[in-house]
Amino acid sequence: MEKKNVPSILVVDDDRNLLELVKMRLEASHYEVVTAYREEDAIDAAKKQFFDLAIVDLQLVKRDGISVMEDLHAINPEMPVIIFTAHGSIESAVEAVKKGAFNYLSKPFDPKELLLQIERALENSRLTSEIRRLKGLLEERFDFSNIIARSEKMRQVLEKVTRVAKTDCTIHIHGESGTGKELIAKAVHIASPRRDKPFVAINCAAIPETLLESELFGHEKGAFTGAVQSSKGLFSRAHEGTIFLDEIGDMPMSTQIKLLRVLQERQFYPVGSEKPIEVDIRVIVATNKDLEEEVKKGVFREDLFYRIHVIPVYLPPLRERKEDIPLLADFYLQNFGEQMGRSLKGFTANAVQKLLLYEWPGNVRELRNVVEYAAAMSQHEMITEDLILKTKDIPDEQQFMPLKEAREGFEKNYLIRLLEFTRGNISKASTLAGKYRADFYNLIKKHNLNPDLFKKQ
Ligand SMILES: Nc1ncnc2c1ncn2[C@@H]1O[C@H](COP(=O)(O)OP(=O)(O)OP(=O)(O)O)[C@@H](O)[C@H]1O
Ligand SMILES: [Mg+2]
Repeated sequence: MEKKNVPSILVVDDDRNLLELVKMRLEASHYEVVTAYREEDAIDAAKKQFFDLAIVDLQLVKRDGISVMEDLHAINPEMPVIIFTAHGSIESAVEAVKKGAFNYLSKPFDPKELLLQIERALENSRLTSEIRRLKGLLEERFDFSNIIARSEKMRQVLEKVTRVAKTDCTIHIHGESGTGKELIAKAVHIASPRRDKPFVAINCAAIPETLLESELFGHEKGAFTGAVQSSKGLFSRAHEGTIFLDEIGDMPMSTQIKLLRVLQERQFYPVGSEKPIEVDIRVIVATNKDLEEEVKKGVFREDLFYRIHVIPVYLPPLRERKEDIPLLADFYLQNFGEQMGRSLKGFTANAVQKLLLYEWPGNVRELRNVVEYAAAMSQHEMITEDLILKTKDIPDEQQFMPLKEAREGFEKNYLIRLLEFTRGNISKASTLAGKYRADFYNLIKKHNLNPDLFKKQ
């Protein structure tokens, strides 16, 4: 269904004379018009052709205009609909607007008013599609294709990270274990002008204190027992690229001061050497510790903290961005399915519910493991709930949080499941939920959910 330059309008009314009249007037204003006298003709027409707008009479022969509008919206959810009402039926007209009509006009209508409403509706949808186009551009820029981010929180992270990737600013990524700190660090490097230069990562917690310095800065031959050869060190190897210092909260104080010097002067001395080495590097650090707390405890240097805390990036735990859960689970299911050479289609509604209820202390890494297990064990194309976590993993206390919190939590999980099921189709979702379109919109807005992000290609 392609859009053309001349806007096309579908008019549905059981009054043939009125249909002809409207057609004439609209054609005179250079719109392309298709008329339908019966409800089913309207639906058929909408299936065959893209319409920029529809005008639907509220009282049709077999059904009311609102349900016809809903069917039309099921075919083209974005199409604005103007409802014709008989004089006096304001209440139903208001209901029509609640259910997603753009506006209504009372019969007999004023032709000027009709044209005005049409122009407004078309302008409105032009704006909407422009916004969508701009958002699309934004999404392209974030094309970190292996990073799944549907939640507002994660999208903000990606937006921030894209912006700062181009600079040389030091980035401090913090967040619980398994939230994706290393993934983001790599993404920053790839999105930066340094992408063709080395990305060197070191886990400060994994290297014994005595070796860390020489690992980072290199050493001269004979600098210490065992230093039989000089070695370059990671800072030298990362020259012109990015160095990622993971678990920086575990770096010993003695190394911290050396690091501070590198950050200030962009040069350092290998262990046992008097000759400074200059480096051009971008530094990214990560930790799951609260560094401010470590500073207070006196185990992390305050001056170093300020040096690295230039651009803080906080990765929220998975339980605070549950709308990412189904998407991540699908992403990993596909991945593992491919790896295992199996066709795995998705998760049953109950399985998704179980994924949403769990608190994920191990965050994305844990989710990934759970999906891998389920993928390996499943005998079917759909993953069933019995393969997702053992019941004992869902703590009892969780079932007895304060009622208000539980209710909010249920509502959000419900909406996520619904949007997931309907692939972000608002008409369908609101119908299933037994809500007016407008009320449904308010609900998803309240929970900060964006239906567009549930649409699948
Ligand atoms: N948004 C995401 N989309 C896709 N995969 C993700 C996402 N976030 C994390 N992952 C995956 O989850 C796993 C853990 O991520 P990562 O190692 O980056 O976490 P971390 O925060 O560094 O954890 P730790 O603190 O334990 O080192 C990796 O396999 C990573 O690819
Ligand atoms: Mg890590």
